[in-house]
Amino acid sequence: MENSEEPMTYFRHNGIIFCSQLHSVERLESLKDANIDPHIPVLLTYPKSGTTWMQQIMSLILCNDDDSTKAINLYERAPWMESVRYNFENMDHQLLTSHLNYQMVPNCVKNKMLKIIYVARNPKDVIVSSYHFHKCSHFLEEPKNFQDFLEKFVEGNVFFGSWFEHIREWYSHKDELNILFMAYEDMKNDLRSVVQKVASFLNKKLDEKTLESILNQCTFKHMQENPKTNYKSVPELFDFESGSFYRKGITGDWKNHFLVSQNEWFNSIYQEKMGDFPLKFDNM
Ligand code: A3P
Repeated sequence: MENSEEPMTYFRHNGIIFCSQLHSVERLESLKDANIDPHIPVLLTYPKSGTTWMQQIMSLILCNDDDSTKAINLYERAPWMESVRYNFENMDHQLLTSHLNYQMVPNCVKNKMLKIIYVARNPKDVIVSSYHFHKCSHFLEEPKNFQDFLEKFVEGNVFFGSWFEHIREWYSHKDELNILFMAYEDMKNDLRSVVQKVASFLNKKLDEKTLESILNQCTFKHMQENPKTNYKSVPELFDFESGSFYRKGITGDWKNHFLVSQNEWFNSIYQEKMGDFPLKFDNM
C-alpha cells in the first residue's frame, strides 16, 4: 500500500495477529490491569461483524440522542480499548469497544457488574466483508485472492485470530458475565426490536420520538453519509478510492463470492468446529 505513512506490518501476540499501526505488545500487556468504570458498557465483536453499527446504536441510546454527543466522532465516543491511537483512559467516552478474545481483555471486564454486548455475524459474510476491508485499509495486507484469504481465515491467520475460537470462547464464559449476544442478521431483520432490547439491557428508557430518531440515524445510508460515523476523517487508515467502509450492509453477500466448492469446503469445516454450537446463523 503505497499511501501508507508507516510500514505495514503485522505482529503476533499470544499467537494472535495484530496490526502494528493500531496495536503494540506494550499496550496489549498493560491492558490486563486497565481500570474501567463498571458503569461503562463494553461492545465486543470479531472484526466485520457490525461493530460500528452497534457502536452507533449504543451511543445514541446512552446519550438519549443528544446533539452535542453526536457531534463527536463515533470512534471517540466508543474507542477501541486495544488501540494505540487513543488512550481511552484519558478520554471521555460512553462505551468501550474491543475485538479482543476473552483471555486478553482487561481483568475488570470480567466483573459481572459490567455490561457486555457481543455482536456476531454469519461467518461467511464476515469473510467477504473482511476480504474487501483488507483492500481498502492501509493497516492490513491486501489479500492475494479470495481462496487464499478464505484459507487464512479458517486457519485463524488473520487479524484478531480465529473467528471460531473468538465466538466459542466468549460464549463459553457467558454464565460468568453480564453479556448480551446479538446477531447482525437480527439487526437487519428487525432493528427496532434490537434497539429496544439493547436499551432495556442498558437500563435506558426511550420515548417513541427518540426511538424513531435513533432508528433513522442507524440506517446504512445515514451512517455512510454522516461524517461522524463514516471514517472519512481518518484518511491515514483507509483508502477510499479502493473501497468503502460502508460497502453493502446486507446479509448473504457471501453467495456472490463463494464458489460451490468453497462453500462445501467451508460448510464441512463449520460443521466440524461449530456443529454443536447453540447459536445458529441465518443464511448459512
Ligand atoms: P459489509 O462489508 O458486508 O458491507 P464492522 O463495523 O464490524 O467493521 O462491520 C462492518 C460491516 O457492517 C460492513 O459490512 C458494513 O457495511 C456493515 N454495516 C455498518 N453499518 C451498517 C448499517 N447501518 N446497516 C447495515 N450494515 C452496516
